[in-house]
Amino acid sequence: MIKDTFNRVHDYLRISLTDNCNLRCFYCMPEEDYHFTPASRLMQVDEIEAIARIFVSEGIKKIRLTGGEPLVRKDARTIIERLSTLPVALTMTTNGTRLHEFADTLEAANIRSLNISLDTLQSDKFHLLTRRNQFDLIMNNIRLMMSRGFNVKVNVVVMKGINETEINDFIAWTKDEPVHVRFIEFMPFSGNHWKSDKVFTWHEILEKISSSYAPEPLTGDLHDTAKKYQIPGHKGTFAVISTMSAPFCNGCNRIRLTADGKIKNCLFSSDETDLLTPFRNGEQILPLIHQNILSKKKELGGQFTADFSHLHAEEIANRSMITIGG
Ligand code: 5AD
Ligand code: SF4
Repeated sequence: MIKDTFNRVHDYLRISLTDNCNLRCFYCMPEEDYHFTPASRLMQVDEIEAIARIFVSEGIKKIRLTGGEPLVRKDARTIIERLSTLPVALTMTTNGTRLHEFADTLEAANIRSLNISLDTLQSDKFHLLTRRNQFDLIMNNIRLMMSRGFNVKVNVVVMKGINETEINDFIAWTKDEPVHVRFIEFMPFSGNHWKSDKVFTWHEILEKISSSYAPEPLTGDLHDTAKKYQIPGHKGTFAVISTMSAPFCNGCNRIRLTADGKIKNCLFSSDETDLLTPFRNGEQILPLIHQNILSKKKELGGQFTADFSHLHAEEIANRSMITIGG
């Protein structure tokens, strides 16, 4: 069992397969000519599988594959096939652009649930946000995956002045389609243009929705990052991930493994533990995993608090989101 000093059992591993992506979301990529990590420095297929097995032997029950965009990795298919043999619930966070090519593979790997990132329902705004013209493709892929019976959650990063005006358009979408929209409070990472006044909080999101609908809270469990709601009569649901205004660190069970093989025990942790180099040297990595988790801070990587109004993104020592994987 992997436990930290606050008695939190860690049974959920998020593995980033690559820091490469085919979109350029401004809040995630540090800059357009960002250099992606060369393939030789990434964990290779055998290494991912072997390291994942070590985690599973210590009690990991759920693995989420992330990126960058996990499906742009050339050997993504093989990695998914290999990890599907582990006794865990396998899931993925994706930008949705390649799902039509991977639907069969995901189904065969028994992946039942997908988180798909989409911050706007307007094609021209999508282009501004991501610098790519892929809106229709992603919408088609979301519908394709729902029609094939996947549980689809759509991640919407809400940014004041950018897309908070679309919140109720997303809610309208949940009426006739079984889509689960998750509004995420905008989080600070170095170089991602975060400003405290661009955060549109859980409270503000609920207020906006309540002006047109009557949302009812659904019960969640300790490890949920999302506060879930249902609008009576709607096929889908919505949720809010209130990382900034109401962090949910108490029930944290997550460990992140970056594409270059380093553990991050929190999205906002400033220190990392390299597993890949010792693994390649034939050393035991299990003690390193435990040491890393024992150094986990109580809340938000120990770098800030829910009172974020005076916070500056540059004060936080961290990687950019694309190299963490969300
Ligand atoms: N704040 C909140 N969410 C973010 N994501 C990426 N960057 C940020 C940020 N700064 C989201 C992506 C994706 C998930 C992995 O994290 O949109 O859905
Ligand atoms: Fe790519 Fe997702 Fe980052 Fe956008 S948020 S650049 S889709 S990894």
